[in-house]
Amino acid sequence: MLKELWRYYTTPVPRYVRELGFLYEVVALEARAKRCQQAWQPHSDICKQLIQEAVQQYAMNRHVSLLGSGLLTDVPVDYFASHTQRTNLIDIVHLKPALKVLNAYPNLYPIADDITDEAEQFHKALTTGLVPLPPVKTPAPDHLENSNLIISLNLLSQLPLAFKGAAAKRGRNLPKAYGDDLMKAHLEMLRNHPAPSLLITDQYQEYWQGGECIDRSDMTTHLNLGEPFKKWQWHIAPKGEAYKNMDVIHHVAAWWL
Ligand SMILES: C[S@@+](CC[C@H](N)C(=O)[O-])C[C@H]1O[C@@H](n2cnc3c(N)ncnc32)[C@H](O)[C@@H]1O
Repeated sequence: MLKELWRYYTTPVPRYVRELGFLYEVVALEARAKRCQQAWQPHSDICKQLIQEAVQQYAMNRHVSLLGSGLLTDVPVDYFASHTQRTNLIDIVHLKPALKVLNAYPNLYPIADDITDEAEQFHKALTTGLVPLPPVKTPAPDHLENSNLIISLNLLSQLPLAFKGAAAKRGRNLPKAYGDDLMKAHLEMLRNHPAPSLLITDQYQEYWQGGECIDRSDMTTHLNLGEPFKKWQWHIAPKGEAYKNMDVIHHVAAWWL
């Protein structure tokens, strides 16, 4: 707890990133990743394997941009360092341990960026009480321009979360359509880019108790992404992590866009 507080107050981020809750989420993720390391390992290994295969296919000694690098738990850092000319690792927050790892390599570039390109505007709208919220536009970040391969890593379903949480904290209910628009704009950005895009995202979550699935909720299946080329399960919250008597399982999949 003390370590989390220290991390929260000593990580430099723009005001809107802190006030919308992005920093809080990554600090909490760091602690959760440590507690759940064993349960998350199979998922992280599959992500790393798929990413390596994608680099082999499209970007050996070329440029890659990976979106949602976060703590790097599911990122094959050494592989990028030895097999690409340049890899941009993009996330709205990189904590100190991730920066230390990435800064050890001359061809790995951590980039702090809001991949929706909406968060700062949204923060302004929320804090000035502007209604309605500005419409979501399709982002086109400059740093993706020369990439031969784009990877969206465990990011899509997370895009609406900080927006939703920050709105709720101020007594406002973010319409579901707004969160969907953020995700659709991300998919549009990936599809518009001339390089191939590997999308890895969770589709839905299941709640398990006493060996039985007792509930299920959608994350991205309603976006109709079509048939993925690979599917697996991520044991994201073993019993005792999120709920005393329940395991939470995410169903994750990968597509080429
Ligand atoms: C589930 S984590 C991905 C796991 C990550 N690869 C790792 O190893 O920690 C989701 C990541 O998406 C990032 N993220 C969420 N919204 C974002 C946004 N608007 N722009 C950029 N990154 C964002 C979070 O900061 C977080 O690091």
